[in-house]
Amino acid sequence: MTSDTALTVQQTARPHGFPSPAHFAFVESALEGPAPGSALVENLYWSVDPYHREMMDGDFALDAPLEGRTLGRVIASREPSLPEGEIVFHRKGWRTHAVVTPREARVLPRFEGVPLSAHLGILGGTGLTAYVGLTRITPVRAGDDLFVSAAAGGVGTAAGRLAKLLGAGRVVGSAGSAAKVAYLKEHVGYDDAFDYHEGPAAALLAKAAPGGVDLYVDNVGGEQLEAAIEGLRDRGRILRVGTVAQYNSTRALAAPRNLSEIVEKSLRMEGFLVRDYYDVQEELYAYVVPHLLSGRIGLDETVVDGFDRIVEAFLGMLRGENVGKMIVRART
Ligand SMILES: NC(=O)c1ccc[n+]([C@@H]2O[C@H](COP(=O)([O-])OP(=O)(O)OC[C@H]3O[C@@H](n4cnc5c(N)ncnc54)[C@H](OP(=O)(O)O)[C@@H]3O)[C@@H](O)[C@H]2O)c1
Repeated sequence: MTSDTALTVQQTARPHGFPSPAHFAFVESALEGPAPGSALVENLYWSVDPYHREMMDGDFALDAPLEGRTLGRVIASREPSLPEGEIVFHRKGWRTHAVVTPREARVLPRFEGVPLSAHLGILGGTGLTAYVGLTRITPVRAGDDLFVSAAAGGVGTAAGRLAKLLGAGRVVGSAGSAAKVAYLKEHVGYDDAFDYHEGPAAALLAKAAPGGVDLYVDNVGGEQLEAAIEGLRDRGRILRVGTVAQYNSTRALAAPRNLSEIVEKSLRMEGFLVRDYYDVQEELYAYVVPHLLSGRIGLDETVVDGFDRIVEAFLGMLRGENVGKMIVRART
């Protein structure tokens, strides 16, 4: 790549099961200048997310650049509201450069002392998902005991930290390794955690939360959702955030097989999409930034250096190689 060229990552084939690097191509093209009313952005940070895997099954056009949450610096502008030097957020995704209009990009607020990458984690879509879930969809009530699955990921770490600040009681989580379990207890503030590979989820949850839980934050679905339905107290709530156990599977998940308990225990289950709640973004800043600055909330992120490693980072996130939000950073 030269200073006159840009790189994009494109999906070249639909995966059956787990994707591989062969499903992607890095494509070089001439660097476009901005047309009147737009700005040229050099991208600095990219988010790789489980929903990209879902989109690979049909929503992403083949042989076209992949969309995604991205931060970059305006390097040339023909649009006064996107001045050169500003850091912007946009969704043009997996490319080294993007031409954006004001409708496609948002100038980011600068919070002195807060790293830029936080805008893709706790201050971005990930944090917003946890915050909306725990304040709007199934609000945390004082003393609520929680179970969170995929607890060591982006949404899971944010959910654990925010739940405690919002007045939760005991918070337990599940994750895919002993190292993640230790991280949750030592750094994120989880009261207990378990590795879901170590046995049936229902038994592991019963051990970690012997008295049951009031609220389950479900990032995974399947067997862990079934375990949570079993472990929830009467009138418990389930926040359906995602189904990452399903995205690489070629078969429908067998569990949960105990939906009748939703009736018998008067449970509530509600899902949502964060994209319907962007109006809560300013509230998220107001709530979280003071806690970031005081150190009460730490950053949970795994940063992979180099745009050339974006596919590797994405596949690694699907395999569970991330602790906290998986982020790719441009080499400087
Ligand atoms: N509703 C919304 O608007 C919205 C917005 C953002 C995210 N989400 C959803 O929230 C969930 C978490 O997303 P995220 O961005 O924070 O990703 P993440 O949790 O940071 O990364 C994905 C994690 O999933 C875990 N995982 C992979 N395969 C699994 C399996 N078969 N069973 C259990 N865990 C598995 C891995 O951790 P382990 O090592 O623990 O297995 C991996 O680290 C996803 O379901 C995503 O689709 C929903």
